[in-house]
Amino acid sequence: MKSLLKFITCGSVGNGKSTLFQQMLYDVKLLFSEQKNALEPDSIIGSGGGKIDCSVLSDVLMAEREQGISIDVAFRCFTTDQRSFAFLEIPSHEQYLKNITVSASFVDLVVIIVDATQGVLTQTRRDTRICTMMGIKHFVLVVNKMDLIHYDHYKFNEIKQDFLSFTANFNLESIRVIPVSATEGDNVTKQSEKTPWYDGLPILSYLETIKVNSDFIKDGFVMPVHVKPNHTFGGCYGHIESGDISVGDEIIALPSNEKAQVKGIFIKDNEYVNAVMGQSVMIQLDREVDVSRGCILVKDENFKLADMFTATILWMDETELVSGRNYLIKVGTKILTAMVMSIKYKIDLNTGNNISADRLLKNDMASCDIALSETMVFDKYENNKALGGFILIDRITNIVSACGVIDHSLRRSMNVVWQNTDITREIRSKQKGQKPLTLWFTGLSGSGKSTLANEVEKRLIAMGKHTMLLDGDNIRHGLNKNLGFKEVDRVENIRRIAEVSKLMNDAGIITITSFISPYNKDRNNAKEIIGNEFIEIYVSTPLEECEKRDVKGLYKKARAGEIPNFTGISSPFETPNNPDIEIDTSRYSIEKATDTIINQIMKYFRKPSRSVSLPKEVYPPTMGNNSDYSA
Ligand code: ADX
Repeated sequence: MKSLLKFITCGSVGNGKSTLFQQMLYDVKLLFSEQKNALEPDSIIGSGGGKIDCSVLSDVLMAEREQGISIDVAFRCFTTDQRSFAFLEIPSHEQYLKNITVSASFVDLVVIIVDATQGVLTQTRRDTRICTMMGIKHFVLVVNKMDLIHYDHYKFNEIKQDFLSFTANFNLESIRVIPVSATEGDNVTKQSEKTPWYDGLPILSYLETIKVNSDFIKDGFVMPVHVKPNHTFGGCYGHIESGDISVGDEIIALPSNEKAQVKGIFIKDNEYVNAVMGQSVMIQLDREVDVSRGCILVKDENFKLADMFTATILWMDETELVSGRNYLIKVGTKILTAMVMSIKYKIDLNTGNNISADRLLKNDMASCDIALSETMVFDKYENNKALGGFILIDRITNIVSACGVIDHSLRRSMNVVWQNTDITREIRSKQKGQKPLTLWFTGLSGSGKSTLANEVEKRLIAMGKHTMLLDGDNIRHGLNKNLGFKEVDRVENIRRIAEVSKLMNDAGIITITSFISPYNKDRNNAKEIIGNEFIEIYVSTPLEECEKRDVKGLYKKARAGEIPNFTGISSPFETPNNPDIEIDTSRYSIEKATDTIINQIMKYFRKPSRSVSLPKEVYPPTMGNNSDYSA
């Protein structure tokens, strides 16, 4: 079977990209097929007589379908007597960055086209950087329109040197710079007589002969499990990402670390004795092991597990990334919860400079530290694309917010191990004779959260309960005194409070929190950290009323522009979607509101566990005295 070269072409508008490839195919009288986001392998033809293995197309389309990243690229396939080719052409438009980044992750080589009259441009550098980050090791720089500079060797060399010195530290495996005139057909398929000083191959011959990563079977068998069909058969279905496997080999299933022997290998109903990288296979094992979708089969013992790593990400979401937020991460076939702990720096794609940043906007690329909800088998992206490439998914909108590559794990993730203790949360709560829970008050400043939280705590204490009240203003004097009111600070404020509440619950204590907590995502995150014990109480007093009360005089200052990012005035408050209890204190007395909350909690105390959510309680107008809400 002919080898397949997968490549992408980049270059700014007007560089002659299309002319170049049309010329190339015309010269060798090749037919080629163009596909745009539709895979019909039967229509892919070439002069080599047979059909072309366009697996790259299915790879890309599968990624689109599975990951939900829709990319806009033209897929083309052609074949010569020497080799089959599949290439992706990236149109220059608004989504360019996303398209090039995702496309680059599927190919082995990039052909960058520059105009000889312009040389290496800022865009050339940006494209090169992205392709390098996405693991491409083989570059061809086509210096097109040589006819317009009269095949000037000196000028060509200047462009070549410029590109070589720029890429010197990129750790590339091959770089070829070719002088070309697409319109004149120089060095496209035939050596040009007009460039006697160039002794290399024309583009097509070069592409036909270059050896790239996919031409070698990489060592170390790795197969992420896609499906485990049925227990009686004892098989796992997946795509072999590297290495090879034979019947009789011992495999290790990660993360369970269980071992088994390969009993059979099946590809589309046919049985084989071995299989190699690039094939999708069903592997039958000689015994039952703990594997499911997302697990990895390997032969080598030395695979790493980690739950924190540093990665380079491209942010693709219209909504900005704020560190501290939770997302879903998909690595190979595995999906976990992940938090971007910190943005280390943003990367200026034009200059390569690192810029400090605490938020990322659409199309920003950055180095980030990411923490996962559990340990995962991983590898550096440059070693293994399947175990080192990932996407981040927004948990609420389900949009793919980012794609990224793992650079390395964080050492502390391997050196910090969870310690099990003999005294558990259950024992501690039993000793206190109560069920721990967290009453999470959310609402605008001045809505009455603190007053209500204070009353509720007094009632609980009177009932003999063990409680702890965490109040926004107070906590900001101590634990969170280093945090301000920018979004990123509020995210961290709420994350810390959620973690503290969970610890309090672990101690068997009923926690009452009173924080504005203005963002839905962060309240959801708090709920996830705290678990079933979380009861969300939305104090829905309208802004006008809070501003009228203005107990601390802060609204006045905010209106005068003296306090930036003030919730309700110059910073948003996102209404909770489905709070357990909602109380508008402008229409409801403290006493009644407190009664209501206590009644609700009593229901919880009576339930064996809070597996069924409480009926939602909304407190409609009962005209009452509301002058007693002091904060
Ligand atoms: S949160 O948004 O991060 O949850 P938190 O509840 O800790 O806020 O703190 C809110 C309290 O800080 C308010 O009750 C108010 O007294 C004070 N505050 C000072 N500056 C601001 C601001 N810019 N926005 C909101 N509250 C502020």
